[in-house]
Amino acid sequence: MDINIEAQKNILGLQLHTDPRWVDIAGLSLEEILTDHAYCEQKAATTCISLIQKYAEKDKLVNELAPIVTEEWGHFRLVLQELRKRGLQLGKQRRDEYVNKLLEFQQKGGNAEGRFLDQMLTMALIEARSCERFKRLSEGLNDAYMRNFYRRFMESEAGHYALFIDLAETYIDKEKVRKRWAEWLAYEKDVMTHLELRSDRIH
Ligand SMILES: [Fe+2]
Ligand SMILES: [Fe+2]
Repeated sequence: MDINIEAQKNILGLQLHTDPRWVDIAGLSLEEILTDHAYCEQKAATTCISLIQKYAEKDKLVNELAPIVTEEWGHFRLVLQELRKRGLQLGKQRRDEYVNKLLEFQQKGGNAEGRFLDQMLTMALIEARSCERFKRLSEGLNDAYMRNFYRRFMESEAGHYALFIDLAETYIDKEKVRKRWAEWLAYEKDVMTHLELRSDRIH
């Protein structure tokens, strides 16, 4: 299993494993995790809609993100269904410190190409880290049903990670993408190192 995790980590390029204790504490507050997860999926869907609106002239991006909106919204509905099965409400959206930290690293001014690249890489990174967290849950939870539940998300988010990298490379020189991706990975490692390990957050 460790070799598998190692391989997955390398594929995604993430430089820091999630602390193994996270899955244990997350497993104890699955309801909180489900609420946070539900909002992650909503944000994924709405961000894809925003990207389509912002980059309407990029045909490939529009074509490829259009079905992702549906998929992410489908994810939201699956998570909502799990909450309802437990007689729970959706609950309030929480402050997403992980994503806020990533947004701080995005290029705000400068050229349009650099801003576009950072938007694609931010999405790729969130998908990669989500995938890694779902993998943890799919392997470490005691409940077999929930392990299987998270496995589906893990596979789907791995595909999204690859899609955002591909979109970046479609519109921007691969060498530039690789160089900036390395900077993002190093930054994300730093963010993860300093982020409090919480039982009620996907990230
Ligand atoms: Fe998703
Ligand atoms: Fe996704």
